[in-house]
Order: sequence, then C-alpha cells, then structure tokens
Amino acid sequence: MKKKFLDLGTQPITNAYLTKESPDKEYLYNLSIAFDEETKLVSLVDMVKPEMMFNDSYAHRASMSKTMLASFKKIAESLKARFNPKLTLEIGSNDGVFIRNFNVDEVIAVEPCGNLAELTNKMGYKTYTDFWDQKTAEQIVNSYGKVDVVFSANTICHIEDLNELINAIDLVLDDKGVFVFEDPSLYSVLQNTSYDQFYDEHVYVLSVIALQNIFKKHGLEIFHVESLLTHGGSNRIYVKKIYNKSQSVLSSVDENIKKELSFGMDSIFTYEQFADRVIKSKNDLIDLLIKIKNENKKIISYGATYKSTTIFNYCKIGKDLIEYIVDTTPNKQGKFSPGMHIPIISPEEGFNNSVDYAFLGAWNFGKEIINKEHDYINRGGKFITHVPHVRVL
Ligand code: TMP
Repeated sequence: MKKKFLDLGTQPITNAYLTKESPDKEYLYNLSIAFDEETKLVSLVDMVKPEMMFNDSYAHRASMSKTMLASFKKIAESLKARFNPKLTLEIGSNDGVFIRNFNVDEVIAVEPCGNLAELTNKMGYKTYTDFWDQKTAEQIVNSYGKVDVVFSANTICHIEDLNELINAIDLVLDDKGVFVFEDPSLYSVLQNTSYDQFYDEHVYVLSVIALQNIFKKHGLEIFHVESLLTHGGSNRIYVKKIYNKSQSVLSSVDENIKKELSFGMDSIFTYEQFADRVIKSKNDLIDLLIKIKNENKKIISYGATYKSTTIFNYCKIGKDLIEYIVDTTPNKQGKFSPGMHIPIISPEEGFNNSVDYAFLGAWNFGKEIINKEHDYINRGGKFITHVPHVRVL
C-alpha cells in the first residue's frame, strides 16, 4: 500500500520557464511523495503528463556543466573498454553529451524532446524522437537488431510505467547485453535532506532495494552498483538477464542493499523522519534569508535548476528575498522561474560586485562553482546552501 509521507505544496512544471513575469495561466499541481510498503518504491502521488514536461521547448542542456561533460566521457570510455559493444543505445540523449563520445555508426539514441533530438540528428547521430516504450524498442530491433549496451542517465526515474520500460529494455537487449543507468540515489536524498530532488520529472527517486525487486520480476538482475557524486549522489546500476552468466554478480549489490536496509529504507518510519527534517530545512532557509535581507544585503541564486524550483515554491521564496537567478543556459536567460517568477539572467549580467550572497540552486555542482568563482569569494561574496543543512559556506 502507498503511504504519503511528504507534501511539498503547489508546484509548477519545472521546465516551464516563463517569457512573461505575469503569465495568463500557469499549470500547477500538488507535489506529494509516497512510499509503497510492498514494492519499496518512493514516487510522486500525482504525476504530470509526460507530454507536458518533455516537449519541443525543453530547456535543460546536460552539457552546460564541465562536471557532467567529464562524467559522460569517462563512462562512455569505461563501457567501451568493459563490454566492447558493437551497438550502444542511449535512452534520453538530451544534447548528445554522452553519444558524442562514440562514432555515429556505434550508437543510436531515443529522445522525446524534438528540439534536442533535432540537435543530435544534425550532429549525425540517429535519434528517435519518441518516448521509451515497447513500440520504440520494436522499431529499433527491426531496423538495427539487438543492442549490446543500453545506457541511460537521469531518465529512467522520469518514466512512470516501470514494467513497460523494463519489458522494452528486455526486448532490445542482446542475450549477453547489459543495461547501465544512473539516477539520483534515494539514500543520498535521505542523508542530505535534499528534498529538492523531488519534482515533476522525478516520478521516482530510486533505491537499490526497490530496483532489485522490480528487475527480478522481469527476469533481469542487478550485477553491480557504483556510487557516484554527480547530482548530489547518484547510483549507477548495471543490469543483465538472469540467465546470462557471462557477468558475475559483484559484492557491491549486497553492500548497497545492506547499507539501505541498515538506514531503514524499507520502513515508512524513515520517510516520516525525513519529512520532519524537510520542514526544519524550509524554516531554517526562510529564517536565514530574512535575517540577511534585514541586514540590507543582496541575495541572488546561482543556477536556475529544476531543484531550486521545488525549493522556492515549497518555501514561497520570491524576488523579495532572491533578487534574480543567474544561469549559463542561453534559453533560460531573459525568462522567469516557474511558479515564483524570479527573473533569470546571465552570470555576465548578474554575477557582479553588487552580490553579497548567492544561494546554490545548483548545489550539486558546488565544487565546480566554488573553484570557478574564487574572485567572488576573495572579495567577500558568500554562498548559501541547504544541503545537508541550511548554512552560509
Ligand atoms: P541541473 O542541476 O538540473 O543539472 O542544472 C544545473 C543548472 O545550473 C543548469 O541550468 C546550468 C546551471 N549552471 C550555471 O549556471 N553555472 C554553472 O557553473 C553550473 C555548473 C551550472
């Protein structure tokens, strides 16, 4: 049975950046999170229709961060060296940040956002402008045959129907093939009180326990788990068909399951405690921003992230507290943040001497940002974060 444990209030579509500060209408929904005591899955209670989130005006560009560019290059090289694939398929190829590490005849991709698929098709990479489902898998098998490696990053947790998703993977994958995917880790979210990992696109935030259960039902099994630092803590999960004995199941699988069980991730009680920490995080952040504002200091936000949309709408933080957001992504600049309508401008325009405090909306790239912004820090500029607890850095 699904039990709701957290209510993050009324929220907009995170990708729906506004061209006007006061739009005529904005789609809003309730963002609540539930734990399923049977499957151990943590999911949103109300889900937004995929077509409303993933469409031809999709704003996010995965290649905007040096951290992600390096991470995708490294995993592409590692997959080639370890599995020697003749054909690799990526599900959710965004702006080609992963596939650009392959020759065009070594990789195909699926990407439902037309603007992104157009970009990678122009680069010469065959990209199906489709959602990942059995129909798309059948089309690929008919045109290319089975694939050796299926890779996906920050996409599997976007897909509501996990049964169809896994059936489609099973269909497209060669008997000796591997499915490798990475997504934010539920363990890290609980550890960091990073409740901002919950937003419309993240239909699930996944645990190894829940994934193990669902793959087994479909004749697949996890044979390796890597803990990553990307996106504030992610898991890279390696999956194979159970009857494929060419890959052995490594100790990392049991180690991760034990770690999650010893943290109580199979029990609703753990999620209820997390919800209490989230409420404290919200109150602490509002108190800190008001205190700084009362000292007549200027606060902005660094990175117009989907995560910060959850925070600003849950905490009701508007431009009275955060004057504007700076972001390097050209198609977010000149727009307004969903829900709270905070202006978004380029760092060149907004990250200047007038800024006293910058809230790390892109806290998951904190290291990259702090390394880059030494001038700001040297002149006394401060960063604010809410992970793992609210504080000035
Ligand atoms: P993400 O956390 O959803 O990947 O989004 C990160 C956002 O932060 C993306 O819009 C790009 C932006 N960003 C900057 O503006 N400056 C930076 O230095 C970094 C690393 C990211």
